[in-house]
Amino acid sequence: MTPAVSRETPPPSPPAAARTIFGTALDGAIGYAELLASAGVERGLIGPREAERVWERHVLNCAVVAALVPDGARVVDVGSGAGLPGIPLALALPDARIVLVEPLARRVEWLREVIADLGVAIEVERGRAEEDVVRRRWEGADVVTSRAVAPLHRLAAWCLPLARPGGMMLAVKGMSAPAEVERDARAVAALGGGIPRIETCGIGIVDPPSTVVVVERLRRRRG
Ligand SMILES: C[S@@+](CC[C@H](N)C(=O)[O-])C[C@H]1O[C@@H](n2cnc3c(N)ncnc32)[C@H](O)[C@@H]1O
Repeated sequence: MTPAVSRETPPPSPPAAARTIFGTALDGAIGYAELLASAGVERGLIGPREAERVWERHVLNCAVVAALVPDGARVVDVGSGAGLPGIPLALALPDARIVLVEPLARRVEWLREVIADLGVAIEVERGRAEEDVVRRRWEGADVVTSRAVAPLHRLAAWCLPLARPGGMMLAVKGMSAPAEVERDARAVAALGGGIPRIETCGIGIVDPPSTVVVVERLRRRRG
């Protein structure tokens, strides 16, 4: 097994904005970027061409979503893969309590190694978001995040049951966001979600900024 701590590839330097976003956790963010760009590529967690743009496309792109997360929130990150957006969010939000939910053993092993290496307090749950055991253990979250996991209607079915009534899911999407919202708004409502809205995070920090679909879990179903 290739150790997560292999850092032979020269790490890309952090952009100036990284200090503002991560504050005292900047060293942790640098460590995570190094791991992604080296062992993360070697172990197939991200593509080889991602190494040189690991800050903009991955670490900062995810960390800027912290602007939508309330202080001290309990956060479930569904489909974390290499740890995105959950690990950058945990570093940017030291008061948040974060669990990463990921079904694939190889990715879970990576997540546990990275968390140990960085020394951050993040939990990892091996499983699928829609499984009863996962729901029982992690339901009632303030915020349920995801990036590049599934279409909006499926995410709503997986993520809304993990959020507390009045909590929200944040789905980091690309340019597909408006079309997904239009297509899936009715399905989201049927699942107990509010009207989806699109937020743009990180203007002037990441290019392009991150597009996030925000859906509140309603306290009562509409209609
Ligand atoms: C394309 S990857 C994205 C990983 C990461 N979120 C990112 O942005 O780089 C999708 C991830 O979702 C996970 N996944 C797929 N279905 C899932 C489910 N039902 N519950 C939790 N995770 C799931 C996959 O194992 C995979 O790691």
